[in-house]
Amino acid sequence: AIERTLSIIKPDAVAKNVIGQIYTRFENAGLKVVAARMAQLSRAEAEGFYAVHRERPFFKDLVDFMVSGPVMIQVLEGESAIAKNRELMGATDPKKADKGTIRADFADSIDANAVHGSDAVETANVEVAYFFPALNVYSR
Ligand code: CMP
Repeated sequence: AIERTLSIIKPDAVAKNVIGQIYTRFENAGLKVVAARMAQLSRAEAEGFYAVHRERPFFKDLVDFMVSGPVMIQVLEGESAIAKNRELMGATDPKKADKGTIRADFADSIDANAVHGSDAVETANVEVAYFFPALNVYSR
């Protein structure tokens, strides 16, 4: 099915100036950017986005990292977009990510892991709506 997924290029990858290289990977995989904006997240925005992780031991470090610099947020659309984006990203921990994936090539640690991508249809819908009101998504 044609799906939409929420993608974030995290502060480490923005700082490395690889937004374009990551977009090229999305495009070459047939994923279309249908919404995008750069943002400096506030703590409240980052905490809200990652609310499901609030009780996890890594939550504070995760939020600290996500507000440490600007991020690039986009909605990707295409056939099986959620799984396709997760394949492109590789494992959460870059040490475990397959060769040729975004995290293997650009990430430094489990926190500074270059990209976020929604993990299921329900979370994708919630995450897209969190950052993009419907009128700012440009699907055909
Ligand atoms: P992300 O896909 O953005 O979702 C939650 C983030 O928490 C994850 O990527 C990692 O960057 C970060 N994180 C840090 N430690 C862990 C951990 N032990 N398990 C999962 N995610 C972690």
